Amino acid sequence: MPDRLRFALFGSGDFGPQFASYINECAEVVAICDPSSEARKRFSEQTGMKVASFSDPQTLLDSVDIDAVAIASPNFTHHPIAVAAARAGKHVYCEKAMANSVPECWEMVRECQQARVKLMVGHKRRLRPPWARMIELREALGKPLAITSCAYFDARPYDHQGWWTVREQCGGLLPVIGVHIVDWMRALCGDVVTVRALAAPQVDGRYDFPDTLHVSLLFASGAIASLNVSLVYSLLKFREAGGPHIVFENGAARFVPSMDYLDLFWQHRSDSSVTHERFDDLGFQHAYRQEMGDFVNWVVDGTEPCLTWREGLRCVEVMEAAHRSAEAGGAVINLPLYPELERPAASDASESLE
Ligand SMILES: NC(=O)c1ccc[n+]([C@@H]2O[C@H](COP(=O)([O-])OP(=O)(O)OC[C@H]3O[C@@H](n4cnc5c(N)ncnc54)[C@H](O)[C@@H]3O)[C@@H](O)[C@H]2O)c1
Repeated sequence: MPDRLRFALFGSGDFGPQFASYINECAEVVAICDPSSEARKRFSEQTGMKVASFSDPQTLLDSVDIDAVAIASPNFTHHPIAVAAARAGKHVYCEKAMANSVPECWEMVRECQQARVKLMVGHKRRLRPPWARMIELREALGKPLAITSCAYFDARPYDHQGWWTVREQCGGLLPVIGVHIVDWMRALCGDVVTVRALAAPQVDGRYDFPDTLHVSLLFASGAIASLNVSLVYSLLKFREAGGPHIVFENGAARFVPSMDYLDLFWQHRSDSSVTHERFDDLGFQHAYRQEMGDFVNWVVDGTEPCLTWREGLRCVEVMEAAHRSAEAGGAVINLPLYPELERPAASDASESLE
């Protein structure tokens, strides 16, 4: 193992160049891959990094000496790149959403298991201190019993084009808006056992999937949650949307996100006043550093990381179930969605991956 792990970064669009600087804090990006020559050029202009640059994933894997890959390319490319990287013996850090279907996720897990390489999916929301603080409130307020999160926002300024608008490529509405909150809800309440969803009539014809969806979740703990998402709500921006209300056994919490700060209000049932905590730091840097730092330590010395592939797979499962439910007019869908893939060896997989 070299002093610093050598990474190849796949995808140098919007997110890849930002993420590269976090990789470089604890490891080293030595190559990038993006089929777009413009994106590759923009990468070196934005980051100032001079690294080997490829248009084809397999050519990179065949020709550069790397220890790990970081996948920040479109969702539909996560599965083939992760599988190719595992077959080449490289550790895999993959951005959310892990893949576009649960069977693809399992294949990624099994390939990494076979190659005895690590597989982590980046779900930063639960790691951002303001969002992590709500999870920590369980200590003061008891078990979470119910959550409502309304993530309605106006997607027009984000100018979604190409793969973000095609279900086969992005995975549908929830990977666009909802994926982070689903994972955070799982971090708070545990595994989901039942999913139900309904779609509203569509407004924005750019997307080939419904643009407003209401999702109901039942957790194994008995907690319930509703996650309502929309891309066509003109009053809020992405960062302002989705602040949850939480009913705890012994109190309540309310989270109000704004563009530049986040407000958390909470109260124990026996308190006479409400506690207000304001977070001026939105917590992105902390989260990216923690996940990448943990991934590197996991590879280097096996230290238990904050996230593995499990969070990624379970999140895809909830999203796939919700889309399936909405297509069936709100049918109740029980998890696991693919019981035949939940072979006991899931724990064997964890032995080599965790
Ligand atoms: N965790 C986070 O906070 C966060 C934030 C933004 C995006 N993301 C994730 O990062 C990924 C990329 O999102 P984005 O907004 O940067 O998308 P984007 O469309 O801006 O960029 C994707 C880039 O990947 C390139 N690409 C396409 N096919 C490829 C392939 N086979 N190999 C390598 N590169 C390929 C495209 O040419 C493009 O330059 C998505 O999975 C998204 O969910 C995560």
